[in-house]
Amino acid sequence: MEQRIYAVIAIIVVGFAVESALSQPAADWYAQAQETLQRAVNLEKLNKNVAKNIIIFLGDGMGVATVTSARIKKGQDNGQTGEEYELNMDKFPHVGMSKTYNTDRQTPDSAGTATAYLCGAKTKYGVIGLDDGSTRGDCAASIGSEIPSILEIAQQHGMSVGVVTTTRVTHATPSASYAHIPDRYWEYDGAIPTAERDAGCDRDIAIQLVENTGIQVVLGGGRRNFMLDTQTDPEETTRTGYRTDGRDLITEWIESKPPLSAMYVWNEDQFNNVDPAKTDFLLGLFERSHMNYEADRANDIAGEPHRGRIDHAHHDNRAGKALIDAVAFDDAVQVAKDMTSSNDTLIVVTADHSHTNAITGNPSRGNPILGKVDTGLGGDDLPYTTILYTDGPGGFEVSDSYLTTGSRPNITDVNTEDPSYIFQSLVPQTSESHGGEDVAIFADGPMAHLIHGIHEQHYITHMMQYAACIGDYEFYANCQANK
Ligand SMILES: *[C@@H]1O[C@H](CO)[C@@H](O)[C@H](O)[C@H]1NC(C)=O
Ligand SMILES: *[C@@H]1O[C@H](CO)[C@@H](O)[C@H](O)[C@H]1NC(C)=O
Ligand SMILES: [Zn+2]
Repeated sequence: MEQRIYAVIAIIVVGFAVESALSQPAADWYAQAQETLQRAVNLEKLNKNVAKNIIIFLGDGMGVATVTSARIKKGQDNGQTGEEYELNMDKFPHVGMSKTYNTDRQTPDSAGTATAYLCGAKTKYGVIGLDDGSTRGDCAASIGSEIPSILEIAQQHGMSVGVVTTTRVTHATPSASYAHIPDRYWEYDGAIPTAERDAGCDRDIAIQLVENTGIQVVLGGGRRNFMLDTQTDPEETTRTGYRTDGRDLITEWIESKPPLSAMYVWNEDQFNNVDPAKTDFLLGLFERSHMNYEADRANDIAGEPHRGRIDHAHHDNRAGKALIDAVAFDDAVQVAKDMTSSNDTLIVVTADHSHTNAITGNPSRGNPILGKVDTGLGGDDLPYTTILYTDGPGGFEVSDSYLTTGSRPNITDVNTEDPSYIFQSLVPQTSESHGGEDVAIFADGPMAHLIHGIHEQHYITHMMQYAACIGDYEFYANCQANK
């Protein structure tokens, strides 16, 4: 049996590839399946090393439909039909699913979910780094419900830690790695209601980033939450920061680091000139608010490094921008993989929640993923795109909306592959909602096999801590044996 499999592998090695073949006989599919099977059989040798490094790649809003669409997009950009393409994350050996609900919501938000996969317990919609004993927006009710994040725990174990994002660094997803606060929107002093400040919540998310933990590397957007309302933004020179409490947090951050060396950068040239060997702490704030979409990166005034921002584009029903960001995210996964060894580095790729984008119709194999279904019209005799949303601005913000005309816009002459195109949605909403179905978890490296089925989302951080022998898992048998 084994020999037979190896024999078939030999055929694959001589250069067989399924992609873009016009005719695909069964033998081709058999060979492809047998190669996959051999890789699965080889997984018998589980990697039970202790993880020296842990990297979690969190694609905000990167549901399964987004992964599939991004795969097709990347494959098509590569000249293939697309469906058969493999993303870098697709190649990870271990995959499971994550159940994303919040303790009080069937369809979750990024704050409650980030608290789950970073702090290890599910909690309410909208709260950051607090367990379910908290109440959103209520300071007094929330005091005492703080739970530590894996970043904080790793730091206690002497590991270096970093947070890299293309949103504001104080946004819900990154903030759950260092902040504990009952409302995700309390990003700067003025965002906290006076009564809640008086009740004891006077440390906004930006202050917590500067004070809570000495995170070695922080890169993202959101300068306005760190700058005073009297300070002019270096890039958007007609605008200022948000803070009215007299605290210039960027200067505070720089001045708190000596005798260790600290570097603050806000544009791509400065970033490229950073010498990692001579820098103990790095803070990069590349935009006043969120960083640009990958599709808009070239228009940025001062330049900024690349990565992925998927969620916000989906909220606008702009699937093109979401997919381009998902592809950039997948490129970043490979950079991390190339820089590390799976012998000692656990990489987990997942999403916090899904979105309402679906892959619809029965378009032909290889039809452009951002294009119109090529095999027929809708029941209303109008063309429709393969990607459609269940809700969002595509229902009524487009000029000839069905709310005013009584019918869907006729997109016959519209280039839906333009990244700015707003896809149609069923229920009109100013912002598209999240999706409530499970999302994928991809894992590679030490203990990656512990991602193996349908998991509750908060399990992810427990599994990562176990792999690295930190937190509650420091003294587990595996850790002792590997000491
Ligand atoms: C990983 O570990 C194996 C077994 O100890 C070793 O043979 C291999 O060279 C290591 N790979 C890397 C990339 O360090
Ligand atoms: C949609 O627009 C195209 C091109 O302008 C036109 O040929 C077609 O008749 C229109 N369809 C409907 C149902 O109005
Ligand atoms: Zn969102």
